[in-house]
Amino acid sequence: MVSAARYYADPSAASQFAVELLQKAGLSQADAKSMAECLVMADVRGVDTHGLARLPQYLDRVSNGRVKAQPEFKLTEKTPVVAHLDGDNGFGFVVATRAMEEAVKRAEIYGIGMVTVNHSNHFGMAATYVIQALEKNMISLVFTNSAKQMPPFGGKETLLGISPFAAGAPSHHEAPYILDMAPSVVAKGKIRRAARRGESIPEGWALDADGNPTTDANIALNGSMAPIGGPKGSGIAILMDIVSGVLSGAAFGGEVGDQYKDPRPQNVGHTFIAIKPDIFMSTDDFTARMDTLVQRVHGVTPALGFSEVLFPGEPEHRLAMQRRAEGIPYADAEKQMFADAARQYGVPGLSLSESPLSL
Ligand SMILES: NC(=O)c1ccc[n+]([C@@H]2O[C@H](COP(=O)([O-])OP(=O)(O)OC[C@H]3O[C@@H](n4cnc5c(N)ncnc54)[C@H](O)[C@@H]3O)[C@@H](O)[C@H]2O)c1
Repeated sequence: MVSAARYYADPSAASQFAVELLQKAGLSQADAKSMAECLVMADVRGVDTHGLARLPQYLDRVSNGRVKAQPEFKLTEKTPVVAHLDGDNGFGFVVATRAMEEAVKRAEIYGIGMVTVNHSNHFGMAATYVIQALEKNMISLVFTNSAKQMPPFGGKETLLGISPFAAGAPSHHEAPYILDMAPSVVAKGKIRRAARRGESIPEGWALDADGNPTTDANIALNGSMAPIGGPKGSGIAILMDIVSGVLSGAAFGGEVGDQYKDPRPQNVGHTFIAIKPDIFMSTDDFTARMDTLVQRVHGVTPALGFSEVLFPGEPEHRLAMQRRAEGIPYADAEKQMFADAARQYGVPGLSLSESPLSL
């Protein structure tokens, strides 16, 4: 029987809890804070497949020597606008945050900045780095590759990653554009969350090891994921591997390490592009035009079964406002996971309330 009980955490307490665990694992205070904020931001936005529940597994990767707690990054300037960052097998969150910072720095001077990355790891919710660029009023594109989970269109064996593409653009009064999408029908994290919580999954999300549709999350975990739109999702997954893996010098073509299975560094690749809108027009003009676009999207008559038309990123934006006020709801499985991690690393447990908070 699946428990519907939820336990609410104050986002800043959740972040502090993660900082303490990550520091125990050997991260510097600054890197622990940066990674904790990425994880909690995912939970706050409702992307709880990529939030704090992943932390115990990330900590295991450090204690097994598969991720470096204190990487030494190597930044190489390729041209004034383009750089390459060797992540030295640090956590993807820390590596990616630094790489987007470098892309934005170049865009501030030259209008556009691009940074490719190799020797990185899973970087969580791709929108994290779009939001980082939005804080500087930048348009951005985020690419990553990932471990093989999906066959190329027409194939039987897995070769492609469920590698999310994210893009963002600032608006003024309206919510910004934030598209963050895996090229599969759903992110694998949704299957992992269902398995953790003992829930079934809808048909069409995944296939079993023999290529048959399944609604059993545990069977799906050992099968493969279904691409969106057949050859189109498969084609996008290959593009992610080209821009993030082939171009950056990272692993590609099915060779990215699986963080759940492989006892070796993942060598994930990413690419970050930041674009300053005021190269083309003033930022005020750009964001006013963006507001018009959002309003025109909102103004479209809802189709049958819809009460309103939303802009990409808006569902998460709304949930973030609610969760910042009420706290992040965790399920029994996550509550247990946090208690176990606190005990294992000797840090104070995360305080959870059985009803929504008023923050
Ligand atoms: N790092 C990795 O290797 C990895 C791999 C896979 C997925 N992920 C992450 O998993 C998360 C979930 O991915 P997903 O593909 O399941 O996302 P999703 O299907 O939940 O959302 C995809 C996009 O659709 C938009 N959207 C959803 N409903 C909408 C609506 N009603 N109106 C307008 N726009 C709407 C969302 O804002 C989002 O931009 C992402 O954050 C992704 O980065 C990470």
